[in-house]
Amino acid sequence: MAINIKNQIFTLHTKNSTYQMKVDEQNMLIHTYYGNRTDDTDCSYLIRMADRGFSGNIPGTDRERVYSLDFLPQEFPVYGDGDYRVDCLKADLGSGVQDGMFFFDSYQVREGKYNIPGLPAFFSSEKSEGETLEIVLKDAVEEVYVHLLYGVFEELDIITRAAVVENRTEGDIQISRIMSACLDLGMGKYDLIHFYGKHAGERQMERNSLPHGITELRSTRGTSSHQHNPFVILADKDTTESTGECYSASFLYSGGFHAQAEVDQFNQTRLVIGIDDYDFSWKLKKGESFSTPEVCLTYSADGFSKLSQTLHQAIVSNLIRSCWKDRVRPILVNNWEATYFDFNKDNLIAIAKEAAELNLDMLVLDDGWFGKRDDDFSGLGDWFVNEKKLCGTLSELVKEVHDMGLSFGLWFEPEMISEDSDLYREHPDWALKIPGRAMNRSRHQLNLDITRKEVREHIMNQIFKVLDACKADYVKWDMNRSVDNVFSAALPKERQGEVYHRYVLAVYEMMESLVQRYPDLLFESCSGGGGRFEAGMLYYSPQIWCSDNTDAIDRLKIQYGTSFGYPISAMGAHVSVCPNHQSGRTTPFETRGIVASAGTFGYELDLMKMSEEEKKTAREQILKYKEMEHLVQSGDYYRLVNPFENNNHVLWQFVSKDKKETVVCGVRLHSEANPYIYLFYPQGLDADLHYEDIATGKVYTGAALMKAGLPLPLTTGDYQPIRFTFKAVEK
Ligand code: DGJ
Repeated sequence: MAINIKNQIFTLHTKNSTYQMKVDEQNMLIHTYYGNRTDDTDCSYLIRMADRGFSGNIPGTDRERVYSLDFLPQEFPVYGDGDYRVDCLKADLGSGVQDGMFFFDSYQVREGKYNIPGLPAFFSSEKSEGETLEIVLKDAVEEVYVHLLYGVFEELDIITRAAVVENRTEGDIQISRIMSACLDLGMGKYDLIHFYGKHAGERQMERNSLPHGITELRSTRGTSSHQHNPFVILADKDTTESTGECYSASFLYSGGFHAQAEVDQFNQTRLVIGIDDYDFSWKLKKGESFSTPEVCLTYSADGFSKLSQTLHQAIVSNLIRSCWKDRVRPILVNNWEATYFDFNKDNLIAIAKEAAELNLDMLVLDDGWFGKRDDDFSGLGDWFVNEKKLCGTLSELVKEVHDMGLSFGLWFEPEMISEDSDLYREHPDWALKIPGRAMNRSRHQLNLDITRKEVREHIMNQIFKVLDACKADYVKWDMNRSVDNVFSAALPKERQGEVYHRYVLAVYEMMESLVQRYPDLLFESCSGGGGRFEAGMLYYSPQIWCSDNTDAIDRLKIQYGTSFGYPISAMGAHVSVCPNHQSGRTTPFETRGIVASAGTFGYELDLMKMSEEEKKTAREQILKYKEMEHLVQSGDYYRLVNPFENNNHVLWQFVSKDKKETVVCGVRLHSEANPYIYLFYPQGLDADLHYEDIATGKVYTGAALMKAGLPLPLTTGDYQPIRFTFKAVEK
């Protein structure tokens, strides 16, 4: 059993970690341990009680003055319980004030992993069934219960958490803040690693030592956002890629989030993460419950690579549902950077023919095929085919593409409306807008009020009609603005604080209807590139467009940062034209291929304009990608050289599970006259095996490669590609 319970001590074991909590003598649920796997020993001996000035005592404990929730590690701290640190719940439970005090009530252990209706969550699978622990807390006064859910996947080495608030009072309660989990770590100084960014520059890794006080990361944009990613790591200050302790929390949510790390007066660190509470409130009527989104916790005693590999594997096996997760993904060509809005049937067919010649697998028709949409001022919401632009029906185009042996993909942006659209003219109240206030436009568009059932149904029905008729094989679901003008005409005044979360629930409901109706469809999500690149989206789509920035050098940092929390097979990465449309930089075609092959590979350029030389290189790239695709899908990924620290070169590596095959790829950033020698050290090999460098035929032991290293090739010119393929051979 992964869950062991004795004397109200709850010990959760995964392959390499142990998580423990306990009901103490005051009937409070305190957290006693999370870290390297140990046994079921009651770890509360780690906590030293003492009289601590200005840290109050809960009723009944004030004689000894040593029991204070202001100091104790807790599982679910609540506002008003005497703990002045960041908390998980703030709610008016009926009395008009926001204080609560939740004591242990009961628990239950169940086989299999819990799920959360309407929200993404890790699930039980043949690979790993998981177990559920549910601990129920009850407020000291009101009939309000909090159900703490723990999903323990022993083999996958992860623990998931979520909370459900249940109102059993006779009246309404009003939640103003609810976090999904709290992680109280005792002594120790931690670095916080997080992934900030911007449009076309997502998931830039930043590592800072946590100061005393509260450090917070949040997105108030109604989406998980380009600016801050809902994935954080706490690491020992000495932790590296291959050594040291680290913990991660990945929030499975595509809306605004709030993560706070507080180092308190006693040098203890608390991490909480949940729905953004900046503009949130939720009314729970008698008998109703509210479920938080899920958080996935991971621990590694062996550095960041191990942490990421654990997450990659767990996400692929028990979070991504798509049948595509284990299938060879089509190598696609997307027409966006090739044509933008300026396409017609002829140039699409020309691109498709060239794609077939090059041995590509799929043509994706991006923005501009519907309604009146020749620029980004109009058309969103009108999901009917512009047959004039396509010189015929979409079905005819798709048939022609299919007949060339290619599959076909189509772009949608279902959550948006243009004011210049039939939909807006008919239903102006279907956009989110605040009565009496001017609207903020972004990319000239407005968010649809998808919290309204009739709106989501209308949009999805239009989409289904198009897909049923044209038989597309792939859908790209885009989302090109932050949520704003947040007011729903369909909700009463006192429920407007619910709109942000209802919006996210609506996105999930719409996506669910799509994946249920077309189980074989390859679904790629996108939000102006990687504005919603998080674990919540991966429950619906096995791949996400990583960034609108296709510059190979900028991508080094974006893909590096993304790899900490998300599988490489989920990262959409394409070769585009140079000078690059976003950065203006020129890089060798081969380098662009190397960088794009650390993801779901494709092209995003006008194939007709490629030189013969580039076509030849593209053919080789495609072959090479096909040779290593299984490693991208299911190999172990190692970040060998950090692009934020090394200005000379960047390297990464894939290793097959049986350690018999490995590919090291990278980019030599700058040319050097009379160059130095740079060694690199492959990871994760079998020290005793012999590996042949396929390019040179030279054979090395795993030990030599990993310990003594290998020199990088001497290249000339900036941005040169690096690739080594090693295969185990008999001695
Ligand atoms: C943003 C996406 O990230 C791009 O790939 C492209 O689909 C455009 N939107 C189309 O408007």
